[in-house]
Amino acid sequence: MKKWFSVMLSLLMLGAIMTVADQAMAQKKEKEKEKAAAKTEAKEPKAAKKVEKAEKSDKAGKAEKAPAKMEITRAIAVLHPTEGSQVRGTITFTQVGKDIKVVADIEGLTPGNHGFHIHEFGDCSAKDGTSAGGHFNPGTMPHGGPADTQRHVGDLGNLEAGADGKAHLEWTDTKLSFTGNQSILGRGVIVHANADDLKTQPTGNAGGRLACGVIGVAKAQ
Ligand code: CU
Ligand code: ZN
Repeated sequence: MKKWFSVMLSLLMLGAIMTVADQAMAQKKEKEKEKAAAKTEAKEPKAAKKVEKAEKSDKAGKAEKAPAKMEITRAIAVLHPTEGSQVRGTITFTQVGKDIKVVADIEGLTPGNHGFHIHEFGDCSAKDGTSAGGHFNPGTMPHGGPADTQRHVGDLGNLEAGADGKAHLEWTDTKLSFTGNQSILGRGVIVHANADDLKTQPTGNAGGRLACGVIGVAKAQ
């Protein structure tokens, strides 16, 4: 009887030990699974980062190439009246091959010729327009007419207003540019009270300033 009981007891104990061992094994396996999952999770963000990086470098590549297409081909100056003046209008500058075509439409003028130039500064803050400085002259040349070889880059000659006070001018210029030290971008445009005689130094004796504008980059057409 005693022997039978001790055998039963050992069997029970063995069973209990085996159950504990099984549980321990199961727990170990569970932990391993978790670890593996954690590892793959850890790997995934890296992979995502790699994709992000690839996209970024792709964007950077595009940005580097972009400036070549950003060539400026058109600019505009909107001229506002100076104090006591009614003169206003627009002047557009369009790249045509190596030249720049100037198209001016100005109103509020007295009939006859009015000097107009590109001035050094795109600053129309002074009531009389004097903040725009003198004629734009990056090559230190004498004042002249638009067709002269020796002239200020800014010397565009005269606008001729009709009886209605309106002037329309189209002129294709070889000295104006949108790039380099002869770039007219950001410079000022002035329309004067009197005619430019194309001779008097350094202003052409064109008198007061009736309208002022700044040359800005315009959308290509
Ligand atoms: Cu001027
Ligand atoms: Zn000049």
